[in-house]
Amino acid sequence: MNPVIPLQLLGGISAEEFLRDYWQKKPLLVRQAIPDFKSPLDPDELAGLALEEMIESRIVLEHGDSPWELRRGPFQEDTFSQMPERDWTLLVQAVDQFIPEVAELLEHFKFLPSWRIDDVMISYAAPGGGVGPHFDNYDVFLLQGHGRRRWKVGQTCDATSPMLPHADLRILAEFEENADWVLEPGDMLYLPPRVAHYGIAEDDCMTYSVGFRAPSAAEVLTHFTDFLAQFLSDEERYSDAGMAAMKGDSDQHQIQRDALDRLKNLLQEHMSDERLLLTWFGQFMTEPRYPELVAGEEIEEDDLTAAIEDGEVLIRNPSARMAWSEVDVGLLLFASGQTVVLPEKLRDLLKLVCSAESLHEGNLGQWLADDDGRKLIGELIKQGSLEFADE
Ligand code: SIN
Ligand code: CO
Repeated sequence: MNPVIPLQLLGGISAEEFLRDYWQKKPLLVRQAIPDFKSPLDPDELAGLALEEMIESRIVLEHGDSPWELRRGPFQEDTFSQMPERDWTLLVQAVDQFIPEVAELLEHFKFLPSWRIDDVMISYAAPGGGVGPHFDNYDVFLLQGHGRRRWKVGQTCDATSPMLPHADLRILAEFEENADWVLEPGDMLYLPPRVAHYGIAEDDCMTYSVGFRAPSAAEVLTHFTDFLAQFLSDEERYSDAGMAAMKGDSDQHQIQRDALDRLKNLLQEHMSDERLLLTWFGQFMTEPRYPELVAGEEIEEDDLTAAIEDGEVLIRNPSARMAWSEVDVGLLLFASGQTVVLPEKLRDLLKLVCSAESLHEGNLGQWLADDDGRKLIGELIKQGSLEFADE
């Protein structure tokens, strides 16, 4: 994607300008980001998803059994008929994994790294409904799908921002309104992390939230060090060969500066292993939200070739995530939390596997003639990241 071409989605600015001036910095309101946008789902279909055991959903009632009552799904069919006329909202997470038309929306976001995208959450709100003033720790594009929603945008918050006492929801106790916009279907609001916002349905409304993921520093440290530790033996320890003898004024109980330096060296030696860091990061960022939906099946290489020659089509499992990178020894494919090291000659196949809507004789045929290429496709089917499309 050419970074300087004006994008309708961004209101006629280029990806380059957006990344320079707005991304992670300030809100951007775009009128008719997707002109004539028609929500691929209607409220009943969204409510239908919220009945499923598998799918994460919640309802927030402003005046429920308690103020801002949170109910967690899955819900029963009669839940919705018992809802009040106003002031409640239903939120369904990761709808892109279940509804291909919703996943297609992500095509508009090709100017951002795919591994930063988390999911498309869809909310339905009765008039007056919303989840209260709050902030999120991630970037979000709020696309209006149906009806109108008023968005109030406020201050930039942090961990010390005062919250209402609430067991489950993080609702801001203070909201300093800086902007107030009513969004119509097709309008979109980009919000950087930690900007306070408050969406209120003007009428029956549906909002699509394209959310991004960024690990917290605490997650990076704990997960990376856990990953690293698998490769370290118990014998490798803090060591102090050549330690200086205690001098007249030093105390046996004092941890001296040189001990701290030895410790820092030990950490540095492992923390600066770029290949392990990249491997961990690729695996972490491609970890599927629903690992149980990434279940593969064994396929013989001959059967794979025959199936593709026969016109069958492979698609990415909607629950799988893929990314790739390169290191000195070759290319790394990260597929749903696993790494495969591949030779340079498979670079174009890697890109194809990560980006193609579907793999078929036309784009895959030549790669199946290559032993390594065929093996990779077979492994991805076995691992569950690729699957044959239903007839
Ligand atoms: C909503 O769609 O109601 C909430 C989205 C958000 O504020 O993050
Ligand atoms: Co939010």
